[in-house]
Amino acid sequence: MTIDTKKLLEIDRKNVFHASTHLKQYASGEIPGRIITGGKGMRITDSEGVELLDAFAGLYCVNIGYGRTEMAEAIYEQAKKLAYYHTYAGHTNEALVELSERIITMAPAGMSKVYYGMSGSDANETQLKLVWYYNNARGLPAKKKIISRDRGYHGSSIASGSMTGLPLFHSHFDLPLERIKHTIAPYYYRREDDNMSELEFSKFCAGKLEEMILEEGPDTVAAMIGEPVLGTGGIVPPPEGYWAEIRKVLDKYDVLLIADEVVTGFGRLGSDFGSLHYNMKPDLITIAKGLTSAYQPLSGVIVGEKVWSVLEDGTDQWGAIGHGYTYSGHPIGAAAALCNLDIIAREKLVRNARDTGAYLQQRMRETFADHPIIGDSRGVGLMHALEFSSNKSKREHFNPNLKVGPQIAAACLEEGLIARAMPHGDILGFAPPLIATPADIDSIVERTERAVNRVTDKLISSGDWVAP
Ligand SMILES: Cc1ncc(COP(=O)(O)O)c(C=O)c1O
Repeated sequence: MTIDTKKLLEIDRKNVFHASTHLKQYASGEIPGRIITGGKGMRITDSEGVELLDAFAGLYCVNIGYGRTEMAEAIYEQAKKLAYYHTYAGHTNEALVELSERIITMAPAGMSKVYYGMSGSDANETQLKLVWYYNNARGLPAKKKIISRDRGYHGSSIASGSMTGLPLFHSHFDLPLERIKHTIAPYYYRREDDNMSELEFSKFCAGKLEEMILEEGPDTVAAMIGEPVLGTGGIVPPPEGYWAEIRKVLDKYDVLLIADEVVTGFGRLGSDFGSLHYNMKPDLITIAKGLTSAYQPLSGVIVGEKVWSVLEDGTDQWGAIGHGYTYSGHPIGAAAALCNLDIIAREKLVRNARDTGAYLQQRMRETFADHPIIGDSRGVGLMHALEFSSNKSKREHFNPNLKVGPQIAAACLEEGLIARAMPHGDILGFAPPLIATPADIDSIVERTERAVNRVTDKLISSGDWVAP
């Protein structure tokens, strides 16, 4: 059956409320739509037959690549056997039992239990509730504030959106919530003092965190949340020594650390978890995307022993814990996760993320280090960002009205490549599926180079940019 793209998009514009979209422009047809009809490996196809190389794995989630029939079969088999039963009051299912044991075995030492949700946002909501409950159970009812970071991304619900440190997700929604504070991002490229080494900058960030804890009052600060590598806020790996310095401050003031591993969990950095990669020693971990490679919605909160024993004691005082989602521990999600983890192990995708990731970093740096409009080329594993600058020696921003990042993402699309214009700043992000080969990386870099050069020429010829 052929698809009538125009007609379907008309119906779509009438009926669908799209995420992160200019609603009026989309409804009126001013901005384009695209109907995705299929995917195989690193590529997706649209209803017009256009094939795109997906260098962002959907939203950094389709880690095993598209079109895995093995996943479809695992989902089908589970749906035939048991499509649903809840996990309230001790009910469980076979897939969930096996999955949970596997996650705890893979996770950093000291992790105890997994609570499941459907999205990264709801898992981070759970994190907050657990931290608050934890301090109530310890008799510390004032210790409730959460410190997140500027440019952190933790979701877009009320609490997770508050923890997100991007203005777009706060303004006009009356966020952030009062109890959620933001400290500075470990954004070495944008440091104010040029003379600081990475380690000095890490100490500076930890010092800022300590100042905030002291200002707010250590008795009021419960936890800090952070992604091992800042993701949506610009793909920013931490500077040398950052997590060790942060951990020292948190330990000093009895503040928990929540590692948001929604992007980094299950291999993206070339390690099973970003917390292991950076030796973060978190008390709680959030997982989602890479857990099922997005073949089913499934997220989780991995609770460390220290928090778990207090939660258990809490239920001795107050009875069954008042937290539960209808779909928590959904058997089809669990079956998809098991199959996904099998594929990752069998195809050694974590090792591939490390090795092919190293190749991505090298190719990007050697291609773009001297490019006149690229101020920074940074990344780790299979995550990379190019940050554009109108004057790279001074690290100056382009005029935001020029929308250089989105222009380059659009030029990449014309090259048949999906790279993501990150929502804050002129930054182009890459996070390809973990199945990427060196040849895929070559193709990503070559297409990006043509796109960047085309936009550079356009900026020059229009007079919008003059080389400094
Ligand atoms: C680090 C991180 N945490 C949480 C989320 C929110 O996940 P979801 O969109 O599934 O709610 C995201 C989504 O991109 C993320 O990158």
